[in-house]
Amino acid sequence: MQPPAIAVENLTKRFGAFTAVDNLSFTVTTGRITGFLGPNGSGKTTTLRMLLGLMRPTSGRAIIGDRPYEAIPRPAGVVGAALEASSFHPGRTGLGHLRMLAPQVGVGDARCREILDFVGLSDAVTKRVGGYSMGMRQRLGLAAALLGDPQIIILDEPTNGLDPQGIVWIRELLRSLAAQGRTVLVSSHVLGEVRSTVDDVVVIGGGRLLHASSLTDFEGLARQGVGVRTPAPEKLLALAEERRWPISEGPAGFRIDDVDSATIGSAAYAAGIELHQLTDIGGDLETVFLQLTAGTDRSGGTDRSGTPVGVAQ
Ligand SMILES: Nc1ncnc2c1ncn2[C@@H]1O[C@H](COP(=O)(O)OP(=O)(O)O)[C@@H](O)[C@H]1O
Ligand SMILES: [Mg+2]
Repeated sequence: MQPPAIAVENLTKRFGAFTAVDNLSFTVTTGRITGFLGPNGSGKTTTLRMLLGLMRPTSGRAIIGDRPYEAIPRPAGVVGAALEASSFHPGRTGLGHLRMLAPQVGVGDARCREILDFVGLSDAVTKRVGGYSMGMRQRLGLAAALLGDPQIIILDEPTNGLDPQGIVWIRELLRSLAAQGRTVLVSSHVLGEVRSTVDDVVVIGGGRLLHASSLTDFEGLARQGVGVRTPAPEKLLALAEERRWPISEGPAGFRIDDVDSATIGSAAYAAGIELHQLTDIGGDLETVFLQLTAGTDRSGGTDRSGTPVGVAQ
């Protein structure tokens, strides 16, 4: 098996007393598209900034290829990234922006024009970035990321601010990059915007890993099931064994599949098992994603306990 293109190992970032990224580990497989998913404020951009050597981790490390970003001799030829809220000088044209990057990337004028054409910005070559729409800025960020023809591409919320046609265009672009054997890590807070594109998913919430698997396995979580919390786990496990219920345990509680909540509730009552929560889960993947990340959204709620979903790892 090939080594992973990216390995995040026990990465932690604290800002004062606040832990933005919390002992996070995951890998990105070479030649595949990995969706890096989590609600706003879950720590995606902070993780990517550490990955790209733009921010020092409090602890842990991130490896691209076989070394940390800082140790890559000519990084633009290995990994290209477009981070959220990339800033462009408003007075520069799109071409001017790429020309400024060209010497450090090691490419010439022809490549700058070629890549602008590739991202669909050829008409805006001479237009100043100050007058660009959000979608045009995203495209320019992509052009900058791809300038050095890297094998690994990291995109932070590239669909933000794009209209539906722009989102479809990004999807097709990512697929064409993967078809060339490149590795893509793409973040989003909206599962639906990357679902049809990604091969693997890494889901985080509150800076912590909630789920990492192939998309297919992730979709398997959308089976109908019941989340159960109990202070008497060994009794519940014994009951499940007796009844032959498929039961699994995740960080947020137990999950029992293919049995309805009333059946579980009555059986637990009859067996004298105290239950603290009995929740129907699954159905469709969007709902699973919301349940998985529920309570981790730091822009709103404060409950970080989450809903039991039988997180597979
Ligand atoms: N430089 C910083 N100083 C303090 N807090 C920060 C800083 N950067 C990010 N944060 C906080 O860390 C959390 C994660 O942010 P971020 O990585 O941007 O999340 P995401 O990209 O998933 O929306 C947020 O609560 C954010 O406010
Ligand atoms: Mg972000």
